[in-house]
Amino acid sequence: MKERSSFSGRLGFVLAAAGSAVGLGNIWRFPYLAAKYGGGIFLLVYVVLVVTFGFSLMVAEIALGRNTRLSAIGAYKKLNKKFGFLGILTALVPIIILPYYSVIGGWVTKYFVTFLSGHHMEASSDDYFGGFIGQTFEPVLWLAIFGVITFVIVLCGVKRGIETANKFMMPILIVLCVAVCVYSCTLPGALEGVKFYLIPDFSRFSINTVLGAMGQMFYSMSLAMGIMITYGSYMKKETSIEKSVSQIEIFDTGVALLAGLMIVPAVFVFSGGDQSAMQSGPGLMFQTLPKVFDSMGGGQFGQIVGALFFLLVLFAALTSAISLMETVVSIVIDKFHVKRAVACIIVFIGMMLLALPSSLGNGVWSHIQILGMDFLTFFDFISNSVIMPIVALLTCIFIGYVVKTQLVVDEVKSSSKFSREKLFVVVIKYIAPIFIVAILVSSVLSGLGIITI
Ligand code: PHE
Repeated sequence: MKERSSFSGRLGFVLAAAGSAVGLGNIWRFPYLAAKYGGGIFLLVYVVLVVTFGFSLMVAEIALGRNTRLSAIGAYKKLNKKFGFLGILTALVPIIILPYYSVIGGWVTKYFVTFLSGHHMEASSDDYFGGFIGQTFEPVLWLAIFGVITFVIVLCGVKRGIETANKFMMPILIVLCVAVCVYSCTLPGALEGVKFYLIPDFSRFSINTVLGAMGQMFYSMSLAMGIMITYGSYMKKETSIEKSVSQIEIFDTGVALLAGLMIVPAVFVFSGGDQSAMQSGPGLMFQTLPKVFDSMGGGQFGQIVGALFFLLVLFAALTSAISLMETVVSIVIDKFHVKRAVACIIVFIGMMLLALPSSLGNGVWSHIQILGMDFLTFFDFISNSVIMPIVALLTCIFIGYVVKTQLVVDEVKSSSKFSREKLFVVVIKYIAPIFIVAILVSSVLSGLGIITI
């Protein structure tokens, strides 16, 4: 077997995995879900899920990759022929996510340029965002710009450069998030929002809170889509899996919590916590933050902070989009045995075509709805709330009962001790499978109106 190139030690591994994990999921998706699904109660459910399920699944995926030295499709097949299909199901997730991820990446690029060019005042008006995504040409143009940047980086293999840049960008992003958090939490009227965001209100609990938090956890930690298996396959035998996972977990969740604290209280400031603003979904970040930057006043100060912020978010989005595109490219290479450059072009064209409905779904195609959702919401739902839970469930069954948890435990222990071993075994064998089935069944039943929770 060919020697696989590997990450240099734990720091290299953690930075690469965190680059994939920290992205739009943390900054764009987490805050709007927290606003929509009850604030503090969503946070609580989310954190509990991260330290139990998220931890266990990430350990399992990385260990599978390191043990087999293969990416998802090959790894499942190598350990058990019958489970080859799971690798293919897993491969479907990044194929669905990459196109609509690029649509949002395009929105971020647009906002960055808007701030940079001094048109930020317009961006803080109420109907700016809706007006922008409702157009036909502009959003597609920004999608194409984001797509081309990602494509060029993946094609030229300059990923390394981006990862190095990320070593600086990530810490700056975190510092800036903290500063904006402090600012927006001290705005008059923000305290109500801080309370809503941090204090769990159990009366707001519903099955959708759990389904939303679970999908978000998979999405944000880049789980249930084979990515961590691939990353694990490049991990050195000496690197501690458990420590790495703990660090990624803290990093990823920390950025999400900060992003929520930046955005949710600000919604209270600018709309008084009005229900329709809290429910505004994918547009929340784009509608709220320009108002925050605008309120900073002081000549160009708000403009500079805003431009810097969107630039850093753009970076975080790019590193995640690169890891998504890399995954899809390697699937195409394995499947069709084509050259890397050819695979990149196929993936880019396919991605653009699949992204069009999501981009146009807020404008000319807004009359087309699938299960009552526009295209972007539908793709997001089908990957995060349907396919990923199913992949996670099958992965738990595969590890718990087919290859047995011992394989993972041995893999982890080959480089360090495994202090959450018991938790891992119980979660993978019993809690996670039962829980995922219960959530999926009850959300289908409540979706069909058979039960109300
Ligand atoms: N985890 C990334 C985010 O939070 C999204 C992503 C998912 C990236 C899957 C790569 C693979 O934005």
